[in-house]
Amino acid sequence: MKFHLFTVALTGLSFLTSPLSAETPEQRGEYLVQGPAGCGNCHTPMGPNGFIMDQDLGGRLVEKNPAFTAYAPNITPSGRVADWSDAELGRAIREGLRPDGSLIGPPMPFAMYRGLSDDDLAAIVAYLRTIPAVSTEVPASTYNIPLPPAYGPPIDSVAAVAPGVTVEYGAYLAGPVAHCMECHTPFDERGPMLSSDLGRGGFSFHGPWGTSVAANLTSHPDGLADYTDAQIADMITKGINADGNPMLPPMPYGYLAKMTSDDLAATILYLRSLPPLADK
Ligand code: HEC
Ligand code: HEC
Repeated sequence: MKFHLFTVALTGLSFLTSPLSAETPEQRGEYLVQGPAGCGNCHTPMGPNGFIMDQDLGGRLVEKNPAFTAYAPNITPSGRVADWSDAELGRAIREGLRPDGSLIGPPMPFAMYRGLSDDDLAAIVAYLRTIPAVSTEVPASTYNIPLPPAYGPPIDSVAAVAPGVTVEYGAYLAGPVAHCMECHTPFDERGPMLSSDLGRGGFSFHGPWGTSVAANLTSHPDGLADYTDAQIADMITKGINADGNPMLPPMPYGYLAKMTSDDLAATILYLRSLPPLADK
């Protein structure tokens, strides 16, 4: 009996301490890739019933417009990334540079991914090494616009932002991790106009669903000012508009639904801090 109680006490103790120490890089990577970062929103094949999950991250046509026809490649361990070192795969994700020196084109959101912390980048790479290999073959993209030589200077290191329900961590989630601000900020030829139009929305996405327009997420009445935190949380995780209708792609609410409640709260706190901008 004594022995039994001792075991229970120990189990109880490890349960109490585990949330702080137990998450491995692979688990953190799985949370990011399958949750807020939603890489499969572009990289997973889609059929008439949505994502084809037994070909998860096997690649597909993402966008076809006059400027480019972009295919997101197979990034499972059967794609060419299998031959890249962890550092090479990390550089491809954060800086858009393949090991052969070629640049990965849009719409992979490098304006945001350049801010991924070293730890989160390593976690994403670690997780990608563990996923099932899928044998899909995806054509090469074609770009009718010139791509820049690089998306910026080489990156040595990006420090982690301390996790918590803070505006700073919310900014990290809505930017580098979930690239909300890439879709929800209008573009010019140099990319999202983050310094003048952050979160204003207005960019149109065309696809089998017709046309969807990224919403204004700022603290203006044209944006989210009139909604409660609970309403905004429902929009982000359930994809239900304020008028009760389901949202159109590519708003990745299926992925965002997997955010922890703290991460969701931090994201909303950050959106509340965005300077008000009227719709244009
Ligand atoms: C908005 C769409 C989009 C999202 C989100 C996205 N990607 Fe991509 N990704 C692309 C496209 C398109 C390409 C290929 C562009 C080209 O052909 O130059 C690409 C290329 C890549 C490549 C290069 C592979 C190769 O064989 O050249 C890697 C690695 C990659 N993505 C990883 C990721 C990871 C990891 C995530 C999530 C953290 C992610 N991507 C999120 C669209 C996306
Ligand atoms: C790939 C592009 C994309 C990404 C990434 C994205 N969104 Fe969206 N979002 C959209 C589009 C498009 C709509 C409009 C959908 C519709 O009209 O049905 C939308 C709608 C919304 C709405 C509804 C607002 C309203 O007034 O109706 C909210 C809130 C929102 N997004 C928040 C977010 C947050 C927060 C993130 C990141 C955690 C995010 N979005 C990531 C494209 C995106």
